[in-house]
Amino acid sequence: MSNQDINNARFDAEAATWDADEKHLDGVEKAFEAIKRHVPAFQDGSAKDLDVLEIGCGTGLLSFKLAPHVRSLIGVDTSDGMLASFNSKIASLPDPSTANVAAVNVLVRDPDDFHLQGAASALAVRRGESGKDTPYRFDLVVSHLTLHHIEDMGGLMRILFSSLKSGGRVALTDYEDFGEDAKAFHPKAKWAGVERHGVKKQEIEDVIDGVGFNEVKIERPFSLNKQVEGVDGGDARYMDFPFLLCLGQKS
Ligand SMILES: C[S@@+](CC[C@H](N)C(=O)[O-])C[C@H]1O[C@@H](n2cnc3c(N)ncnc32)[C@H](O)[C@@H]1O
Repeated sequence: MSNQDINNARFDAEAATWDADEKHLDGVEKAFEAIKRHVPAFQDGSAKDLDVLEIGCGTGLLSFKLAPHVRSLIGVDTSDGMLASFNSKIASLPDPSTANVAAVNVLVRDPDDFHLQGAASALAVRRGESGKDTPYRFDLVVSHLTLHHIEDMGGLMRILFSSLKSGGRVALTDYEDFGEDAKAFHPKAKWAGVERHGVKKQEIEDVIDGVGFNEVKIERPFSLNKQVEGVDGGDARYMDFPFLLCLGQKS
């Protein structure tokens, strides 16, 4: 079984209860606030012009916070269970046919992916455009708690770079790999689907810089206090995990 298969099975199983976990809600709220503080469009009043791509949107916790502030948001995820939860939120909107959000099952390998382009085109038609402005490109790529599931970080950053319009930005949050203790973020039973135990600050900065982004900055905007497994069968304990916000602009 590949790591991707293990992840998909894990998140399919966790989807129904994902939004009930206060830690998930807390982390997403902090990520949302950090994105609003650090992405200039949220400061200068132009956020309503943004077409956003979200990698690993899950049930849409971050997506539905961002959506009212931007022009459109397309989430991609590889777990059908998480996407079913996302889509049930769209279905429960007062008028789903006018929603500015959509989610598709895509393992991002190609900015011109058929499903991704189809979703972007459908949202464009919905807001009165021709839907033929292809290939669609985005103003902002966001992601929360997904980078640690990605095997080829350089490959992903190259795709994100190609998915952006000129002037577009990335704002990606995940927990930091600050050393051996960062492994405690996940219980050992979940390590099989984890590609890396957090994101290393210098490593991600070099990768984002290396694919051609400008204004690369890695911030440490918040931390999350989380219950973790005890050591050697001891009692569960609480630990603080710092989070990184990885920023860059395609000029
Ligand atoms: C820890 S969850 C975070 C979900 C959501 N961002 C949140 O904060 O609630 C990670 C998500 O990334 C998705 N994922 C894992 N690998 C992925 C990949 N290669 N491409 C897209 N999504 C992926 C999983 O299915 C899962 O929904």
